[in-house]
Amino acid sequence: MTQIEGQVKFIVDNAFYRPQSKIVRDLGILAGAVYQQEKHQLKVLDVMSGCGVRSLRYVVESGANFVHSNEGNPDILSILKSNLEANLKPEFYQITSLNANQIFFKCSNDKNYYDLVDVDCFGSANPYLTNMIYGTKLGGLMYITSTDGRSMTGILPENSLRNYGSYLRHLPIKHEQGLRLLIGKIQQSAAENGLGIEPIFAYFTGQNYRVMVRLIKKVMLTENNYSFLGYCYQCGEYQKVPWRNLGKVTCDCKIERKENNNYYSSVVLSGAMWLENLHNINYLQKMKEIAVKWNWQKVIKLLNIMENEASLPPYFYPLQEIGSRGKLDLPKRDILIKELQNQGYESAISHVNIQAIKTTASFKKTVEIAKKISSQ
Ligand SMILES: C[S@@+](CC[C@H](N)C(=O)[O-])C[C@H]1O[C@@H](n2cnc3c(N)ncnc32)[C@H](O)[C@@H]1O
Ligand SMILES: [Zn+2]
Repeated sequence: MTQIEGQVKFIVDNAFYRPQSKIVRDLGILAGAVYQQEKHQLKVLDVMSGCGVRSLRYVVESGANFVHSNEGNPDILSILKSNLEANLKPEFYQITSLNANQIFFKCSNDKNYYDLVDVDCFGSANPYLTNMIYGTKLGGLMYITSTDGRSMTGILPENSLRNYGSYLRHLPIKHEQGLRLLIGKIQQSAAENGLGIEPIFAYFTGQNYRVMVRLIKKVMLTENNYSFLGYCYQCGEYQKVPWRNLGKVTCDCKIERKENNNYYSSVVLSGAMWLENLHNINYLQKMKEIAVKWNWQKVIKLLNIMENEASLPPYFYPLQEIGSRGKLDLPKRDILIKELQNQGYESAISHVNIQAIKTTASFKKTVEIAKKISSQ
């Protein structure tokens, strides 16, 4: 059966394709289109192509000049070939069937670098996070998937330690910290190679994690932007904790936790992870301009939410938690956001959890404002 997505038609047969993930591909296509608009070139490496839907869309919609479409499973190669043949002129593409890491090493060996490298893997992206850098041009984009929820949310902290070198705790912001873990690990891998990355956007779909970053010449990793998040289980307050303050963490609530007849701070530490902006506002705005031209309403809505949350602190407060800790009925999200803004705090919806708010106000202040609203 023929599938249609965006402007392309293709067959799926026994290849992996989830129509529900269209918005993830739409974001990649828009980022590619902005890149083409700015640099007047776009050479894409779609290293885990499946049926080739992304390869097709990068050429047809983003305006890529060339796509290298690789698929490791030889059993679905004929589907990939027939889809590309049916839609693209031969000079626009190349097909291979190798392991993604072999492709990255070959890129490095041949000094053949790409403007956009798309790594749409199953499970943990960890085996590719360093190697994909070897296939990417300086200034180029890398689009990564991770479906490894249990390592990334702190449910299995030993797994996050093994895969990402970070010990994540199971915090209320678990999926945002998954995105931050992934960005942090890529930042650290880039730094190891004397390079840096800047996040373009980071998206939790409700099930898995997608991160688009740009490879840059400047090492970006610092003790502040790649560090720890402290969370006080007693009062619900978050704080950023740089490496050199690790031994000095306390919470203003001063409530201690008793364990084996000893008293400890109630703050748990999760990390290290990326604690700076999740998205590049300027790039999002350019993506949005194109999305408006193409009338992609659903994507425009998401881009607006991302833009508003981009520079807010690396955590959010679920309305549920505000309600239960403050002993009040769940506050209305938009009224609370407005009131926080009226009182001079930045505040917005979190794309990760739309029943939560991000704000520069402390949790205590947020509860205080919510209480005032609910008593009116
Ligand atoms: C999630 S699917 C790709 C779906 C496709 N990008 C899309 O948007 O519909 C992942 C694909 O990568 C292939 N794959 C998995 N591991 C790979 C590896 N290490 N190297 C190359 N291909 C791989 C799988 O056979 C599968 O077709
Ligand atoms: Zn506290």
